[in-house]
Amino acid sequence: FDTTRFQIDLIEWYNKYKRDLPWRKDQDPYKIWVSEIMLQQTQVDTVIPYFQRFIEQFPTPKALAEADEQDVLKAWEGLGYYSRARNLHTAVKDVVIRYNGRVPNDGKQLLTLKGIGPYTRGAIMSIAFNEPYPAVDGNVMRVFSRVLKIEDDIAQAKTRRLFEKVVGKIISKENPSAFNQGIMDLGATICTPKSPQCLLCPVQSHCRAYAEGIEQWLPVKSKA
Ligand code: ADE
Repeated sequence: FDTTRFQIDLIEWYNKYKRDLPWRKDQDPYKIWVSEIMLQQTQVDTVIPYFQRFIEQFPTPKALAEADEQDVLKAWEGLGYYSRARNLHTAVKDVVIRYNGRVPNDGKQLLTLKGIGPYTRGAIMSIAFNEPYPAVDGNVMRVFSRVLKIEDDIAQAKTRRLFEKVVGKIISKENPSAFNQGIMDLGATICTPKSPQCLLCPVQSHCRAYAEGIEQWLPVKSKA
């Protein structure tokens, strides 16, 4: 597996075809954080208008921290999974108190904030701070299960840790932001769960599942 070539092919594709999304207009870690929490259980197209209204209403960690919980939940209304909003509100108050309102550029400190686990930590560290942290969710596991023919059950918690280890080795150290977002876009638009569009894939030549004609059988997922 030619890691350098894989990184180049992916990042060139991302730079050419990246989706125009409102949280990609700058590298503000607060905005990246809000977007990643919203995107966890909700589709991109649904999130876009909520994200724009939320950032208008609460443009900074301080603005969100000072808001009433009822107003935060009102802004979240329709997105569902309201514990996401309550945890975000709690965490942002913590950021104001502990870090003077600045989202810490520190992987360990991010993990101590309510609602931030390894995925969100990796997304913030890579996209906002360009630090080489993996950001492994179901889409990322799907892409790498195919590229590397990894047949472990993605429903198992330990499998995510395996993917974090693997992606940590492959991620571009020069441009982890484009690398991670490129994988996200690939999983959303080309390396989809059903009928992946391998003929359009920028990393087709690196993909073991494509070479063996088994992309439709990966990833392996035990329970529904
Ligand atoms: N899904 C999760 N995070 C994303 C991001 N930053 N951009 C696009 N889709 C995503």
